[in-house]
Amino acid sequence: MRRVSSSKLEIRNLAIRFGRGTPVRNAEILIEPGQSLGVVGESGSGKSLTSLAIMGLLPEHAEVTGEILWNGQDLLKVSANVRRELRGREIAMIFQDPMSSLNPSFTVGFQIDEVLKLRLGMREASARRERGLQLLAEVGIPAPHERWSAYPHQLSGGMSQRVSIAMALAGEPELLIADEPTTALDVTVQMQILELLSSLKKSHGMSLMFVTHDLAVASRVCDDIVVFYAGRTVERASASQLLSRPRHPYTKALLRARPQPGDPARTRLNVIEGIVPRASEDIQGCVFASRCESVFDRCRSEIPSRFVTSNAPNQFASCFLIDPTGEKK
Ligand SMILES: Nc1ncnc2c1ncn2[C@@H]1O[C@H](COP(=O)(O)OP(=O)(O)OP(=O)(O)O)[C@@H](O)[C@H]1O
Ligand SMILES: [Mg+2]
Repeated sequence: MRRVSSSKLEIRNLAIRFGRGTPVRNAEILIEPGQSLGVVGESGSGKSLTSLAIMGLLPEHAEVTGEILWNGQDLLKVSANVRRELRGREIAMIFQDPMSSLNPSFTVGFQIDEVLKLRLGMREASARRERGLQLLAEVGIPAPHERWSAYPHQLSGGMSQRVSIAMALAGEPELLIADEPTTALDVTVQMQILELLSSLKKSHGMSLMFVTHDLAVASRVCDDIVVFYAGRTVERASASQLLSRPRHPYTKALLRARPQPGDPARTRLNVIEGIVPRASEDIQGCVFASRCESVFDRCRSEIPSRFVTSNAPNQFASCFLIDPTGEKK
């Protein structure tokens, strides 16, 4: 077993703008070395943009402010060269569609070989092949020798995702970002990939940022969870604390909206009334105010800070309901 990651990621007050739209308004993320963080939120809440910002892969015209501290160094201030060095070596990412990391024109073996040669500087072809086959075996690809000369289209979705995980692992990253890595897969394959990621996280001692819209999946894989809503992190807690004692009304609504075991298949889910504010909307107060059951005047005019709950110091929620000093109505 290798060392446990010693790298820490801390994102403070991250905002991402495109022209008049601000799809990420204020994201806060903390991943301690070797920990796993689930990033949960509805479609459009800014999860992928935040992941791409960490990787330094946002489109050039994106305007990014705040801090992305990697071991204390602000990645928003370092040169493009330093960013490139970090990418794949210290921080790697896998995507929802494995085909986006695989090139359809080249064999699996060629692509892994390229990563080992170009990114890791391994000179000797036989050593690269040996390492490549070892990586494929590690991610659960049966008969790696045979798959080495296969093209991506000859693999199932689950197998392709395993190959893209192998490529991400090639650089022995300290942090792996997995952006909805199982959404495009069948349910049984999803479970296998989740188990694979959990076990690789342990055996490689790396940190994991796991992006999903599914709170149940996040709680199965992750130590901690942050909840995104309209580009803001509205709550953070340990996975068990978030499920048993959510504090933000949005998190509570998300939990209520989950299908329960034993529900007849056709029961209407508890939906959250109203719509998510658009990225171009100028919001004065709390981002969730327009849909919140417990809203009161202050929520519409003032942005709630991240209030820490007294019984769980690791938990915060951006909600005046838990402001220890404020009015609650
Ligand atoms: N290149 C871009 N230019 C302008 N707006 C963008 C761009 N990329 C994303 N956005 C906006 O940012 C919003 C958030 O995008 P993001 O992809 O981060 O959401 P997400 O939380 O990953 O959603 P999903 O669960 O659907 O993947 C989108 O709704 C879109 O309006
Ligand atoms: Mg996304």
